[in-house]
Amino acid sequence: MGVSKQILITGGAGFIGSHVIRQFVFNYPEYQIINFDKLTYAGNLENLLDLESLPNYTFFKGDITSTKDLATVFSKYNIDNVIHLAAESHVDRSIENPNVFVETNVTGTVNILNQCLKSWSNDIAEHVFYHISTDEVYGSLGNTGLFKETTNYDPKSPYSASKASSDHFVRAYANTYKLPVKISNCSNNYGPNQFPEKLIPLCINNIKNNKSLPIYGAGLNIRDWLYVEDHAKAIDTIFHTGKIGETYNVGGLNEWTNIDLVKKLCQVMDNALGQQNGTSEGLITYVEDRKGHDLRYAIDATKLSNELNWKPAETFETGILKTVDWYLRNDAWLNNVVSGEYVKYYAEKYS
Ligand code: NAD
Ligand code: DAU
Repeated sequence: MGVSKQILITGGAGFIGSHVIRQFVFNYPEYQIINFDKLTYAGNLENLLDLESLPNYTFFKGDITSTKDLATVFSKYNIDNVIHLAAESHVDRSIENPNVFVETNVTGTVNILNQCLKSWSNDIAEHVFYHISTDEVYGSLGNTGLFKETTNYDPKSPYSASKASSDHFVRAYANTYKLPVKISNCSNNYGPNQFPEKLIPLCINNIKNNKSLPIYGAGLNIRDWLYVEDHAKAIDTIFHTGKIGETYNVGGLNEWTNIDLVKKLCQVMDNALGQQNGTSEGLITYVEDRKGHDLRYAIDATKLSNELNWKPAETFETGILKTVDWYLRNDAWLNNVVSGEYVKYYAEKYS
């Protein structure tokens, strides 16, 4: 089959990126998908082992903070479009070390934008730069209201400030240099392959190992959870049918306080492990709150559902069962990640 498009997906070895790679490689055999990833602690090629031999998938180890790496991948392939997910993504890490978030999320994004301008200067209107962003750029909601595409930006953590800044650069390049861009801002994702520093996989791993489940503050902060494959499908929809220059919010209308979410997860885990109901809940431990902890995120995804006809396929009930089932069936993945085995392996393989 001839190749109709070459698409560079950055951050494809990470949690969401690996599901986006799957979505495109399996559904569009006519596309050549190039996964550009630095393989930080969060990037894991084990997420994509079953794709390695497919003819329309290629991995390129590269760093978006390196203009040389970007020039190399763009000279090696005739890249038509970019879907940009590579980022530092964990809020707690951004509080400890903001600088790497500026380097990767801001400078790295500007580097790719510059490379696109250089490589696409003769026919810029034929290309698309699609930036994957977060609802955290809108700041923190009170008990009511939803984030709309028109909500003012008000980022409150170093992570969300870096993502907001990268969104602004993407829009500035569209305005100044006529780069065709799309942006989507999504709520909290959960599902297979998520690094166990984030709330849901952290709790699954701790329950398995009979360790405490740390709840920040009173556990009353609210997040809007979306199953990761539904996000990957939304990205497919926006990439193919979204309008150039537009922003789309993506979310599941699925709000939970952290404490209720963890209690629900405890019930699902007790059932899955054949334990008496209440066993996992006994591990819940309230700990010091996150600094500057945003109270509530909630997305209004009406534009995406009305204009592009996207709707999540999973309910939280089905999504959380699939997630728990995946983690319990993939002991080796979890153990390798937790022990750092895969980091050692890559260091040797790509040294
Ligand atoms: P992740 O941390 O699991 O993966 C990030 C990936 O980017 C990893 O594979 C890592 O190796 C790669 N990477 C990091 N720095 C790089 C660099 N300098 N050069 C090349 N690759 C690099 O992140 P995720 O949770 O999958 O998030 C992916 C994207 O989606 C991010 O842009 C994030 O801001 C956004 N997002 C995430 C969520 C969520 O709930 N996880 C929600 C909305 C938006
Ligand atoms: O909203 C989208 C964002 O969701 C993404 O842009 C980020 O990349 C992603 O990490 C996520 O950010 P959060 O900070 O919301 O996710 P996290 O899983 O770290 O935390 C979820 C909630 O749970 C948050 O209110 C903090 C709380 N929490 C988290 C951890 C890790 C705890 O109470 N205990 C914990 O141990």
